[in-house]
Amino acid sequence: MRTVLITGANKGIGFETAKQMAALGYFVYLGSRNKEKGEKAVLALHELGFFNIAPLHIDIADSTSIKAAKAELEKKVESLDILINNAGILGTMPQEPSTTSIENYKDVFQTNVFGTIEVTQQFLDLLRKSESPRIVNVSSEVGSLMENSDPNWIKYDSVKPFFAVYGASKSAINAYTIALAYELRNTNFKVNSVTPGHTATDFNNYKGFKTVEEGAQPIVQCAILPDKGATGKFYSAEGEVKW
Ligand SMILES: NC(=O)c1ccc[n+]([C@@H]2O[C@H](COP(=O)([O-])OP(=O)(O)OC[C@H]3O[C@@H](n4cnc5c(N)ncnc54)[C@H](OP(=O)(O)O)[C@@H]3O)[C@@H](O)[C@H]2O)c1
Repeated sequence: MRTVLITGANKGIGFETAKQMAALGYFVYLGSRNKEKGEKAVLALHELGFFNIAPLHIDIADSTSIKAAKAELEKKVESLDILINNAGILGTMPQEPSTTSIENYKDVFQTNVFGTIEVTQQFLDLLRKSESPRIVNVSSEVGSLMENSDPNWIKYDSVKPFFAVYGASKSAINAYTIALAYELRNTNFKVNSVTPGHTATDFNNYKGFKTVEEGAQPIVQCAILPDKGATGKFYSAEGEVKW
C-alpha cells in the first residue's frame, strides 16, 4: 500500500486531505504537533470506516520533533511515497510591512518555511526509496509575487495590506519548490506548490468561501500525479497559478 505523510492534519484542510487520501486507498500518517489532537483525529477517521491511517507526532517548528518523527516512521515503513507539507500558520495580524514585528516574521518563517524545508530534507531519503515520490507544498495565492505586483489583479488592494508576513513565507516556500524540483528534475520526483484557495477553516475564522472538501482537492490531485505529470509548478483547483 502506498504511503503518505501529511503535516498539520489533525484539522482543517490537512484533516480533509487525510480523509480523501485514505478513501483513495493510501496508508495515511496523520501528522500533528499535539499528540492527543492527532490521536483524536485518527479515531474520528476510524469511526468513518478508514482504518488505513495512523497518527504521527510531529511539530514542524521543532527540529527534535521532526527527527523523532522520522525515526518513528522509519520503524514502520521502508519507503514514503508522498509528503504533503500542509502545516502552516498565519502569524499575528495586522501585518503592515512597515510596522509588523521581526518576531512575527521569525515565528511565521520558522513554521511555514524553515520547518517545511527541514521536514522535506529529513524525509527525503525515505521518499527516494519510493518508485514515484511526490512532494506537495501547500502554499497560497497571497504568495504569488506576480499577482501581488499586478495592479490589475482583482485582489490587488484587498490582499496586500493583510499578508506581508504570511504572503512572504508562502513566496519563500514557492521558491523552495522551484529549487527542489530543479535539483530532482532527472528523477521520478514531482515537487509542486498548491493553493487550496480561500477555504473555511480555523485559519480564517471560517470566512473562506470554499469547503474543506474543495480546498483539499487540488492538493490530492498533485499528490497522486502520474509519472508523466508536471514538476516545479504552482497549482490551484482552477489550474496553474503565476509565481
Ligand atoms: N484556509 C485557507 O483559506 C488557506 C488558503 C491558502 C492556503 N492555506 C494553507 O493551507 C494549510 C492548512 O491550513 P488550514 O486552513 O487547514 O488551517 P488550520 O485549520 O488552522 O490548520 C492548520 C494545521 O497546521 C497545524 N500546525 C500549525 N503549526 C504547526 C507546527 N509547528 N507543526 C505541526 N503542525 C502545525 C495546526 O495544528 P494545531 O491544531 O495544533 O494548531 C493545524 O493542524 C496551511 O499551510 C495554510 O497556509 C489555507
